[in-house]
Parts: sequence; C-alpha cells; structure tokens
Amino acid sequence: MQHIAFIILLSFTSTHLEKVTLEPSGNIVLSLGEKLEITCTFYSRIYALIPSWHIPKTANVSMFRQANQLADGLYIIKSIVISTSLQLGDAGKYMCHMGNNNHVDVTVFAVFAEKKNVTFEWKMKRVDLSCNLSTLDNEGSLIFNGWHYGSFPLTEGSRYTIVTMTRFAGKLVTSNLVIGSPIRNDSGFYTSEFAIVYPHTTLSYRCLVALEASPIILIPPRSIAATIGHTATLTCIVISFPKTVVTWKSDSLNLTNDAFRISYGHFGGHNNSILNINDVQESDSGMYSCFAKNEVFRHRPHRSIRIYVKSRYEWVFPVLMLIFEVNITVILTIVLTNRQNKRRLAREEKIRTLYTEMEETLDEPVNVSQAELREEEVESPSEGNRMQNSPLQQTSSEDNIQQETWHSPPEEAIIE
Ligand SMILES: *[C@@H]1O[C@H](CO)[C@@H](O)[C@H](O)[C@H]1NC(C)=O
Ligand SMILES: *[C@@H]1O[C@H](CO)[C@@H](O)[C@H](O)[C@H]1NC(C)=O
Ligand SMILES: *[C@@H]1O[C@H](CO)[C@@H](O)[C@H](O)[C@H]1NC(C)=O
Ligand SMILES: *[C@@H]1O[C@H](CO)[C@@H](O)[C@H](O)[C@H]1NC(C)=O
Ligand SMILES: *[C@@H]1O[C@H](CO)[C@@H](O)[C@H](O)[C@H]1NC(C)=O
Ligand SMILES: *[C@@H]1O[C@H](CO)[C@@H](O)[C@H](O)[C@H]1NC(C)=O
Repeated sequence: MQHIAFIILLSFTSTHLEKVTLEPSGNIVLSLGEKLEITCTFYSRIYALIPSWHIPKTANVSMFRQANQLADGLYIIKSIVISTSLQLGDAGKYMCHMGNNNHVDVTVFAVFAEKKNVTFEWKMKRVDLSCNLSTLDNEGSLIFNGWHYGSFPLTEGSRYTIVTMTRFAGKLVTSNLVIGSPIRNDSGFYTSEFAIVYPHTTLSYRCLVALEASPIILIPPRSIAATIGHTATLTCIVISFPKTVVTWKSDSLNLTNDAFRISYGHFGGHNNSILNINDVQESDSGMYSCFAKNEVFRHRPHRSIRIYVKSRYEWVFPVLMLIFEVNITVILTIVLTNRQNKRRLAREEKIRTLYTEMEETLDEPVNVSQAELREEEVESPSEGNRMQNSPLQQTSSEDNIQQETWHSPPEEAIIE
C-alpha cells in the first residue's frame, strides 16, 4: 500500500466532520477492461479539505475532487478515484481517510471475462452467447449461477440451451447460452452470473453480453383522422437494442416540443415514441414521419402517417340532412292534406252555390253541376293556379308559415 495523497490544506477540528462514506460500499469484482470508480464522500465547513487515500501501490488511477456548498456554509466534498480500464495492478484495497479514526475501505477483485456481443439477423437459426470467466490470482474459485435476461432467470427448455464447463478447480468457467430460432424481441442484455468464493468473502459477478438488433418500426396505420380542437396522437413502435432515438418530422407543422400544442415522449419501455398534437387545426393535416436512429447501426428506418383533419361539426350534416328529410315529409303531408281539405270545401261551396242557383232558376240544374264538377276533376291534378284562384285562399296562410320553415331549416339550433 502506498500513501498517495496525504494533503490537508487547512487544519480542521473533528467537530466539523461527519462520517466518511464510500460508493461502492462493499467489496467488488470487476473484469479487466471495465471501469473502476470509487467515490469518497464527507461533509465539512472547510471548503478546501482533502481526504487521504491509501491505494494499491501498483494502481494506475486518476483522482478528482468536487466540493459543493450545502446550506449555511456546509460543504459536501467528494473525492473520486477512477480507472477507465481496469488493469490487474488496480486490484486491491482502497481506503479513504479523514482524520485518525474516520476511514472506510473497499477491496477490488479482478477477474478476466471473455465475452462478445452478437448481432441479431433476420432468420437466424440460433444465437450463441457466451461468457468465459477466469480468476487472476490463486485465491478465488468460480461457481456458475445461471443466465438471466434482464432480471428473468432462463431455464433450459425448447428455446434455451445452457452449456457450462468448470476447469482448473474452479479457476475457469465457460458458460454458453444458445437461443433457438431467435426473434428481434429477444435482443437485450443477457447476464451470466457467477459467485466467486474468496478465503474471507464471497462476491458475485454479472457478465453482461448483448444481443444487439438493428431498429425496425412496426407498421403504423397509414392515416388517422383528427378532429379540429381535439388531440391527435401518433405512435411509432420500434424494436431495437440498444436504445433507438426516435425523431418526428412533418411537412405541415413545426414539431418543436413546445408543451402547449406539441409534445412527444416514450412509452412502454423507452424505444417507442408518442407524438401528441393538442387543439388540432385545419392546417395540421399532412404527412408525419418518425425516424429511428441508433448509434450502433447504419440502417435508419422511417415510417409515415397521414393526418386527415375533419371539422368538429362534421357529424352535424348527416343529422341535419335527416331532420331536413323528416321535415319535408311532414310538410308535404300537411300541404297535401290541406289541399284535399280545400278541394273538398271548394267542392261543397260550389255545390252550395249551384243549389242556390237551382233554387233561383230551376233551369237544367243537374247538367250544369255535373259539367262544373267534371271540369274541376280534370283540373284538380294540376297545381298552383287553381289553389291561388280558389275562393278559399285566405285559409292558405298556414301554407305560408310552412314555406318559411322550409326555407330555414333549424341549423343554428343544432350547432349550439
Ligand atoms: C496509466 O494509465 C494511462 C491511461 O489511463 C496510461 O496512458 C499510462 O501509460 C498508464 N501508466 C502506467 C504506468 O501504466
Ligand atoms: C468461451 O469458451 C468456449 C469453449 O472454449 C468457446 O467456444 C467460446 O468461443 C468462448 N467464448 C468467447 C467469448 O471467447
Ligand atoms: C415484440 O415486441 C413488440 C413491441 O413491444 C410487441 O408488440 C410484439 O408483440 C412482440 N412480439 C413478440 C412475438 O413477442
Ligand atoms: C455490447 O453491447 C452493448 C450494448 O449495445 C454495448 O454497450 C457494449 O459496448 C458492447 N460491447 C462490446 C465489446 O462491443
Ligand atoms: C427498448 O430498449 C431496451 C433497452 O434499451 C430493451 O430492453 C427493450 O426490449 C426495447 N423494447 C423494445 C420494444 O424494443
Ligand atoms: C419551430 O419553432 C421553434 C420555436 O417555436 C423555432 O425556434 C424554430 O426555428 C421553428 N422551426 C422552423 C423550421 O420553423
């Protein structure tokens, strides 16, 4: 162990200090090439205070310090040790000191993990994932603890075949996972989990292997109908690993996320994108496209959806037409009934007149009356003139009212 930093810029009193903490708080296992980061945190009223570290003498690490003021002149001070790519010499005990009895430590164990990402391809017969783990000193021994997909343990069955082999008294374990007839949804991180038994402690190691998949966008509807004043929602469902960034473009609308009219985000995991357009306007109709960009793959698919905007009152017109037709039927019925009534009254009036004349003249009454009636019957099928010339025209004021109704259907009432 080497004393790397033992610089205390200002004298301090232990009353200024609270307990020193480390992150990670327990011993850890890392594979060569992985990132090591240990953060020592404490509180002080003295801004420039620096902790001292005891680290392995072969360690090749960098150190950073952060100090941020909390309320009333109290600082939170962090001292961070980093190795971007762990080397064998970096393994060992790291101790952070702040005063004589205020220290905390963590021991870093190194293993060697041999692993390789696999890329999903359409119509693959099988996917072979593997992680081979070996210890780097003579102390630890490895125990394979199974494969997981996310947090789900995988069991051997029709889809998965697990083959493991332990050699050199647990100094090397090879673990293979074979996925039969994989689909794009199988993409993600698979972890091969190990326990490593050291003389005084047992630690676990998760070996992460990715099944990567280029993005595809599930076919959305070609078009959607949106109503003026309502919200239009477009979704773009992307399957990929790692995460794909979805962006939206429109030929008619500036899709800047303004939180008032336009908003977008992710749903159901974080690859699927949803675009909301509030208070839809007539001018929003047009083509909208989502683009899937993934930092790993060159293939950048996109899909387009057309928005048709319809009036808020579109439903009113069929209803109006219906009401209109019902009205016409009612009006025609009334008009025809009226006309028949008038005709009947006219006929009675004429007969009455004839009888009066007959009484006065008593001259060939029957022939005249029959001729008149016949004439009336011939004329009756034809419209208009006859009614206007009718002696009972005053009763047709009812017709005028109906005519007005006819010319102004009650649209406004319905729109309200
Ligand atoms: C320490 O690490 C840096 C990179 O982090 C490297 O450039 C340098 O050669 C290393 N020094 C030794 C002594 O290994
Ligand atoms: C792990 O070991 C097995 C058996 O020796 C080998 O087939 C496989 O390729 C190795 N995996 C990696 C990632 O090197
Ligand atoms: C694959 O994932 C998509 C999106 O989550 C889902 O809709 C679909 O049902 C999944 N397909 C299968 C076969 O699991
Ligand atoms: C494996 O894939 C993961 C997820 O895409 C990525 O973060 C990691 O860098 C890849 N590792 C290698 C060795 O390519
Ligand atoms: C979204 O991405 C995550 C990892 O970034 C992955 O685990 C998940 O399966 C993806 N979901 C879909 C539906 O592609
Ligand atoms: C879209 O709107 C934002 C702010 O609302 C503005 O900054 C940006 O320049 C606009 N882009 C285009 C292409 O009009």
